[in-house]
Amino acid sequence: MTEIIKIFDTTLRDGEQSPGFSMNMAEKLKVAEQLERLNVDIIEAGFPISSEDDFLAVREIAKNIRKPQISGLARTELEDVDRAWEALKYADNPLIHIVIATSDIHLKHKLMKSKDEVLDAAVKAVERAKAYTPDVEFSAEDATRSDVDYLCKIFEVVIDAGATTINVPDTVGYAVPEEFGSLIRHIRETVPNIDKAAISVHCHNDLGLAVANTLAAINNGARKVECTINGIGERAGNASLEEIVMALRTRRDFHKCDTNVRPKHIYNTSRLLSHITGITVQPNKAIVGNNAFAHEAGIHQDGVLKEKSTYEIMTPESIGVSKSTLVLGKHSGRHAFRERLKEIGYELSEEDLNRAFKRFKDLADKKKTVFDEDIEAIIIDEILRIPDIYKLVYLNVISGSVTVPVATVQIEMNGEVTQEAGFGVGPVDAAFSAISNIIKTESKLIRYAVNSFTGGTDALGEVTVRLEENDIQVIGQGAHTDIIMASAKAFVNALNRLEYRKKHPVVVK
Ligand code: KIV
Ligand code: ZN
Repeated sequence: MTEIIKIFDTTLRDGEQSPGFSMNMAEKLKVAEQLERLNVDIIEAGFPISSEDDFLAVREIAKNIRKPQISGLARTELEDVDRAWEALKYADNPLIHIVIATSDIHLKHKLMKSKDEVLDAAVKAVERAKAYTPDVEFSAEDATRSDVDYLCKIFEVVIDAGATTINVPDTVGYAVPEEFGSLIRHIRETVPNIDKAAISVHCHNDLGLAVANTLAAINNGARKVECTINGIGERAGNASLEEIVMALRTRRDFHKCDTNVRPKHIYNTSRLLSHITGITVQPNKAIVGNNAFAHEAGIHQDGVLKEKSTYEIMTPESIGVSKSTLVLGKHSGRHAFRERLKEIGYELSEEDLNRAFKRFKDLADKKKTVFDEDIEAIIIDEILRIPDIYKLVYLNVISGSVTVPVATVQIEMNGEVTQEAGFGVGPVDAAFSAISNIIKTESKLIRYAVNSFTGGTDALGEVTVRLEENDIQVIGQGAHTDIIMASAKAFVNALNRLEYRKKHPVVVK
């Protein structure tokens, strides 16, 4: 019999708190909507007491996302639990997730508390949470470096206090699969009241073993797993959702387990996160990397052409990589466009569809064939973008081998359009300098990258820039067939995000 493993996605909490992956509320909501489409069981929406932004994002997700359970993290301080509940109370099915460290190393150097004090704090926090909602998860941070008898004891007392899930985090990615599997088995066989709670695991990837450890835990009785899209998370990241889901699906014969996730939404979810954060996955990343289904070696190509299963253990279509050969162009109508959007996983409102279709028509006039990647870029650029303070209205650049590159730019701010010119060593530099003459920014450009979505010189280019000001880092993106235009859009987008960040600082208490 195949057992269902619950997927607890922590992209918006553990993933989002790692450097470079911060998202604003609108972006978090987009990711949460996509996670709902993917059909994860639980969305960890954030850590409400850590900042006002996090609180508001958890509350917004709790108000808007109906199907998955919504979780919010809290330490054992009672005000953490109260704050988590304030944000989660709007959810149909809320989960308060309580964490405290249990290893000697953390008790001595970080918490400066005795084992009894930690035990007491854990019980009180679970009881407080339980008074709010029936579902409470307790995590023993740094479980894999904790004294096993103490770990079992704390799980026993929190279950008595009402915890419905006990989570075993490999916080520092220290565990080895056989050892981690045995630990889960030991907990399952030793904690006397374990039948009253689900066993969950949360593995970090410091030694590249997060997914292997998660699978070992499943094979030894864990029935809930915490993971993130593209494996993002603290340091080397968390166990990657797409790898766990596809490992279970592809080797169901071995694990005898599966998930409720709809794999055909995996690819889009991964892309959406990359677009929003500006951080793409490495080409050889399992499941979602660009090369994950590419066969380069002649002998492999020969095999795949004769029979796909020679070198393919799963199909690209199964994770939603489009197999459509139907291409869109300037003669394609609104209906075909809408159908194509649906096929690649986007269902837009009428208003959004109209905006996206207009952008599609503009692109199709310039470009013979519009590929799925182009459409995706339009959606990200036109629909998923947050409301801007600065809007790029006009850009004209003159450059060449005998002229000093000069750019003229118009930016709209608070309903007023301002125009400035700027010089530079090249056209992008000139455009950035003209923009900076209008938006007097103190920020430093610390990264500039260009990526082409499809082949050909008429491809949509996507530019990502990273800016830094007073320790705040933001990324901005812009897509256009003209790379200078894409660069200017990316720069303005980053300046918008910087303004937003300055007004909504992340405060970790
Ligand atoms: O890594 C960790 O221990 C965590 C806990 C909050 C589960 O992220
Ligand atoms: Zn973690």
